[in-house]
Amino acid sequence: MLSVKTMTNVLHAIATGLVERGAEIIAASDEIDDEEREVLGHALVAGGDSSVQARRLGDALRSIGAERHLINECYRVAFYTGEDWKALSSNPLYAFFTANRAGYPLDKWVHYFPIYQRHLEQYRGLPVRVLEIGVYRGGGLELLRHFLGPEARLVGIDIDESARLATGARHPVEIGDQADPDFLRLVSERHGPFDVVIDDGGHTMNQQIASVEALFPLLSERGTYLVEDCHTSYWQAYADQGPDGQTFIEWVKDRIDDLNAYHHSQAEELRFPWQTNVDGLHVYDSVVVLTKGRHVAPFSELSGTKEFVDFDRDTGALHLELLATRDVALARAAQADVLIAEARSQADEAIARAQKEQEQAAADVERSRLEVQGTRGKLVKLRAETIALRSDRDVLRAEHTQMSSDLLGAWGIIREMRRSMSWKTTAPLRRAKSVLGRRQ
Ligand SMILES: C[S@@+](CC[C@H](N)C(=O)[O-])C[C@H]1O[C@@H](n2cnc3c(N)ncnc32)[C@H](O)[C@@H]1O
Repeated sequence: MLSVKTMTNVLHAIATGLVERGAEIIAASDEIDDEEREVLGHALVAGGDSSVQARRLGDALRSIGAERHLINECYRVAFYTGEDWKALSSNPLYAFFTANRAGYPLDKWVHYFPIYQRHLEQYRGLPVRVLEIGVYRGGGLELLRHFLGPEARLVGIDIDESARLATGARHPVEIGDQADPDFLRLVSERHGPFDVVIDDGGHTMNQQIASVEALFPLLSERGTYLVEDCHTSYWQAYADQGPDGQTFIEWVKDRIDDLNAYHHSQAEELRFPWQTNVDGLHVYDSVVVLTKGRHVAPFSELSGTKEFVDFDRDTGALHLELLATRDVALARAAQADVLIAEARSQADEAIARAQKEQEQAAADVERSRLEVQGTRGKLVKLRAETIALRSDRDVLRAEHTQMSSDLLGAWGIIREMRRSMSWKTTAPLRRAKSVLGRRQ
């Protein structure tokens, strides 16, 4: 096969408009056999500008099973000598990439930049959480920082400790295996929920599938999950490593079926998240993007006046169905009105009852207050009477004491009198007087 040096000379000739010179180099090369020489020479003799020639040479190399890097160089020349590069000239990601001469190493397929821009533009300038699987030396994280802005929180995971050392304090990097769901869940708990996940890790089937199955359900609503380098699904060295031999692209095809589940599944409940929370699958060359969002049950509708629709075919049935639905809705609305009126009247009654009870309670309180007031007046009067009675009692006690003392004095006099001689000598006279007094 042609050496890198020979290929460089051929492509330089093509890029500078000297296609014949390129053809001569190939014709004279002893690095290829006659069959290869014929295929490659045929690609260069046909007409076309430098871009077309370079592309043809790449296609011819591909057809004879040349090494990928040789084909890559042909397509690079085709791209930059043609018009396609102009579409990238306003892409900020590509601008950073090309200006990143002395920055951290960054290895990207050039057609990824418009895909990145299309799906990540919505997050620019926002405090979004982004996870990059596969950090290497941090070039991808720097690219994202430049594009998304200072508010974005960028986190990386890598299986290689040197990725953490290379990114230093600029971005947190967790060390672990992207095929380990427990590790991924831990990272999501610690740094998520993520709005964006970019899988640029080991690119094996098992890694890509295990990562998306663990992380997509944890992604924030309206989040974006982007898998790079999905062409490994077609590369034998990677394709064998999927669960049950399934490649990532085959896994994605199953997701397309899930996205259309409403049209073929009879399950009452659709499966989370692939049938219920994927709102779009975007499949590009080597890149797959899954966008998260509630999958609304699909339905179709007619709009416009009947002159624009085929009334006879199925609008009649739809019209009847709509009328029936409207009648049910109206009946339910009438029922609801009755229930509302009943509830209002019950509420009015309850309010009136409560008001009456409140008035009654206020009257009871007033009556009690007056009773208490009257009782207090009586108490005051009774206290005054008690004081007067106590004073009368004291006077009577004093009089009683005086009278007792007078009586004792009188008894003393009477005893003296009875002991005297004159009392004793006049005793018969008093007895006779008493007898005579009783006979009269
Ligand atoms: C292509 S490089 C990443 C490049 C980086 N995204 C950039 O844009 O500069 C792939 C990285 O994935 C890492 N990797 C490989 N297998 C992995 C795995 N199983 N889990 C996590 N990272 C892995 C490698 O250590 C390597 O750093």
